[in-house]
Amino acid sequence: MGENAIEIVGLQKTYGGSGSQPPKEALKGVDMAIPKGSIFGLLGPNGAGKSTLINILAGLVVKSAGQVSIWGFDQDVNPRQSRAAIGVMPQELNLDPFFTARQALDVQAGLYAVPKAQRRTDEILAMIGLTDKADVYSRTLSGGMRRRLLLGKAFVHRPPILVLDEPTAGVDIELRQMLWSNVRKLNEENGTTIILTTHYLEEAEEMCDEIAIINHGAVIARDSTAALIGQMDAKTLVIHPEGTVPDHIALPPGVTLEHRRGGGIALSYRTGQTSANAVLSAIHEAGISILDVASEEPDLEDVFMALTSGAHG
Ligand SMILES: Nc1ncnc2c1ncn2[C@@H]1O[C@H](COP(=O)(O)OP(=O)(O)OP(=O)(O)O)[C@@H](O)[C@H]1O
Ligand SMILES: [Mg+2]
Repeated sequence: MGENAIEIVGLQKTYGGSGSQPPKEALKGVDMAIPKGSIFGLLGPNGAGKSTLINILAGLVVKSAGQVSIWGFDQDVNPRQSRAAIGVMPQELNLDPFFTARQALDVQAGLYAVPKAQRRTDEILAMIGLTDKADVYSRTLSGGMRRRLLLGKAFVHRPPILVLDEPTAGVDIELRQMLWSNVRKLNEENGTTIILTTHYLEEAEEMCDEIAIINHGAVIARDSTAALIGQMDAKTLVIHPEGTVPDHIALPPGVTLEHRRGGGIALSYRTGQTSANAVLSAIHEAGISILDVASEEPDLEDVFMALTSGAHG
């Protein structure tokens, strides 16, 4: 078995149209290798194809073309083994309303043929913070609680790969932190490979070792999180001037100025083009005295916006 938890080659998915809806090409030949033991972020705007990819991995959506291998098992050749190697927390809330949390976990364990003696229902209930809700119907759980129950269901069979499709959408801050710390623990202690999607880019930046950005059904970036952010050479200096600022400041080429709330002026530039020294000299020459200065580094959100802006066109 190789180094990769998942290998995807030439993956295509076209949803058939119906009525006035034309067919939709949701994945246009995706290649992707996800290393074992990584926390891998799959990012992209609404409709990019993230859930389609995840649902194909989960065996919930049938691909149109391409190869998917999960934990060394080709999905078409060894469907059972490849399915057993992965646990998926879907984006859609698909709980049976008349099962309690405990029953939902038990039924799921049964589906994956986990013997009664090996079930860890109480442990999972504690981990997802639902111990005191274990015996109420899932229809009476709040939205965030249902999402946590879906997370619990995803790992009843202790899969080596856990896939989380927007696990923290609508989950409050405290539980979001608890969820991430649990996910990190699974990754560090059990070596579980984690694949996640989220629209909270700060979370992705903090959690993920590696990231793929997908847009209009194609992978447009794939690198370590650090390298992705490092490729942005944008930088901003925020200056708090003493007194008023003249209407016109002669700035070096390529430097843009923006007034911030609270009287600060933000000067953005490319490090390959201009230096902080040149920017500060221009401010000095405009007769502005600097009270305070702060610098802003690019983050994952800047990278994401630079790569995907206009995605909704
Ligand atoms: N069952 C389906 N039938 C037809 N089209 C579909 C179906 N499911 C998804 N699509 C279309 O495929 C494209 C990709 O959808 P997908 O759900 O994979 O996006 P996503 O990246 O998960 O988006 P989001 O961030 O909103 O969850 C969209 O244009 C969507 O409308
Ligand atoms: Mg989705």
